[in-house]
Amino acid sequence: MKRTYMMAGNWKMNKTTTEAVVLSQRISNHREDTWGTEVEVVLCPPFIDLKSVRNVLEFDHASIALGAQNVHWADNGAFTGEISPVMLKEVGCSYCIIGHSERREMFGETDETVNRKAKALFAHGIVPILCCGETAQTRDEGKTNEFVCGQIEAGLAGIDASDAGKIVIAYEPIWAIGTGRVPTPEAADEVCGAIRATIASLYSPQLAEGIRILYGGSMKPENAAFFLPMPNIDGGLIGGAALDADSFRDLVNACLV
Ligand code: 13P
Repeated sequence: MKRTYMMAGNWKMNKTTTEAVVLSQRISNHREDTWGTEVEVVLCPPFIDLKSVRNVLEFDHASIALGAQNVHWADNGAFTGEISPVMLKEVGCSYCIIGHSERREMFGETDETVNRKAKALFAHGIVPILCCGETAQTRDEGKTNEFVCGQIEAGLAGIDASDAGKIVIAYEPIWAIGTGRVPTPEAADEVCGAIRATIASLYSPQLAEGIRILYGGSMKPENAAFFLPMPNIDGGLIGGAALDADSFRDLVNACLV
């Protein structure tokens, strides 16, 4: 089955609103007509920039989707500092990253909270981009597939096939994030294949065949062409290289060749 590539920019905690408007305008100005059909493009700015970035993309009819980087599972309530899926929906988010390793390591995100967030997002028609990935130590111990597939199984617990079929997975080895180190394309593809097999066993081979699995971790225009042709890799979740309009354009266009 041919899956549509996705190239998603995770801006992390970068860009003031002014800077976010400039970057999204540059990305929009650089876009090709086939963005949105041949490759799905997603920008995930900080919460505070979502509305401004949405306005830029809407004004330009840019066929670039909007995503958030995190969400709370409740619709509303006494959760100081949190943002709900209802709020993300209204501001125009189609996607939301959950379970990023930075949130798991620094902000107490667990498989259980990731699962609650996934359910809440689906309930509001927002597609989760569910992140998974191993530490260098887990890789050295030869437990990568077991660990990563465990994260996927826990994240999807109790989610129906009708929702699970829409999810996007991002495989991001922690040791590759922001380090300039990358796995070989074959090694990354092997883990993505194991993730796909896990989803096949949880649901069905047909459902698993339709799921997009992104690679993330020091993906750049210079190495994207090695990862993107791999059979189980369907795009990228980009950190540093998504903060530069030229690099991000080149990454998106690498999906078109
Ligand atoms: P880098 O592309 O900066 O390594 O970050 C990857 C990432 O964490 C995307 O979510």
